[in-house]
Amino acid sequence: MKDAITAADRAAMNRTLPPELFSGLLAIAADAVIAVDDEQRIIFFNEGAERIFGWAAAEVGGEFLEVLLPLRHRAAHRGHVRGFGAAHGRARLMGERQQISGLRKSGEEFPAEAAIQRIEVEGRNIYAAVLRDISARQRAEDLLHQAIKARDDMMGIVSHDLRNPANAVKMLARSITEGPDGRALPDDVRERVAVIQQAAEQIDALIQDLLDITRLEAGRLVVSRRAVDLGALIGRSVEALRPLAEAGGLTLTTSLPAVLPPLHVDPDRITQLLSNVIGNAVKFSPAGGGVTVSAVVDAAAVELRVHDTGEGIPPAQLSKVFDRFYQASPKTQAPRHGAGLGLPIARGIVEAHGGRIWIESAPNVGTTVYVTLPRDAAAGTGGSDRDSSRHVQDNSRR
Ligand SMILES: Nc1ncnc2c1ncn2[C@@H]1O[C@H](COP(=O)(O)OP(=O)(O)OP(=O)(O)O)[C@@H](O)[C@H]1O
Ligand SMILES: [Mg+2]
Repeated sequence: MKDAITAADRAAMNRTLPPELFSGLLAIAADAVIAVDDEQRIIFFNEGAERIFGWAAAEVGGEFLEVLLPLRHRAAHRGHVRGFGAAHGRARLMGERQQISGLRKSGEEFPAEAAIQRIEVEGRNIYAAVLRDISARQRAEDLLHQAIKARDDMMGIVSHDLRNPANAVKMLARSITEGPDGRALPDDVRERVAVIQQAAEQIDALIQDLLDITRLEAGRLVVSRRAVDLGALIGRSVEALRPLAEAGGLTLTTSLPAVLPPLHVDPDRITQLLSNVIGNAVKFSPAGGGVTVSAVVDAAAVELRVHDTGEGIPPAQLSKVFDRFYQASPKTQAPRHGAGLGLPIARGIVEAHGGRIWIESAPNVGTTVYVTLPRDAAAGTGGSDRDSSRHVQDNSRR
């Protein structure tokens, strides 16, 4: 058996690598590798360059590098290469410079990324460039952006146009059960109308969430701030969810400081935030557990905590629960209503107020959602809505 190769052997091999190895490597490179002399005449053009530009090496050898560039960029480019030789270090890497345009033999332009290196050979400068055709990547990115925009446009239109009929069903169903004729209806009919009403309310809530998420992503979430009694807001949100908590066999408690400072926030949006977060705590906790809403205040912010003793969120999924439509374990859990929009909306609301939201959770132990809301200097002074809002007003809000 041969002796093992030592580090010294390897270094010696490295020094004596044959030039054929390098030509071999350049031949199989997918990128264009091009070298030009001091006058910027092409002296090397690998197979990758032939493929990308459509020229044979023999055709462009000795030509000025400009043949590979769109007309309008030629003068500027000549200056760039000269400037690069004079002012910069020896190399600039792929992606370090702005995207450039190449010109194929066919006259077609294409977007490219290039790296360039100055090499001194016998006192003369040679510039070597590696250029990557990124037109396929860019087309894919363009398509993706178009698809995302089309989806968002459609989501906006559909949810907006579905609101009216959903509302009509909801209102009419309510007017039947709660109206003067309601009592006269047979029980089974009244029950069915109640189911219709409930279903219409769910549709309405989902449409609202879809509209909000679309607005959020378009940077159009409305925040109309005014001085708000946060304690009262929390109290109302908790009471609204108490029937659900009791039906699920949960205790629902609050633990708030005797005095909470008035905050300059949007009361409807903060209510929406609380109902999403407390609603989750109730929804994801089994009977016998408890949900606690507490708050601590410091000089800069109010920190809300919604703690539950529920099923928790596995660590691997924790970073994803703020993604829209993400639900941690919908398949293994009993079917529960929801679209995975509550937390992304909650985060949008908190961030629109300049606050932060995060979650600590342990599976089968419980979850705590933290929300900080900054104590705005304008709180309680009746400062103007527009001044304190980072978001454009949108009059179509609910
Ligand atoms: N308190 C919690 N305990 C355990 N899991 C939670 C809790 N809050 C959120 N999650 C997980 O995070 C996922 C995303 O929450 P989110 O509120 O965005 O959606 P959802 O409640 O499923 O639906 P929606 O809020 O649209 O009705 C939930 O599906 C759930 O898996
Ligand atoms: Mg939710």
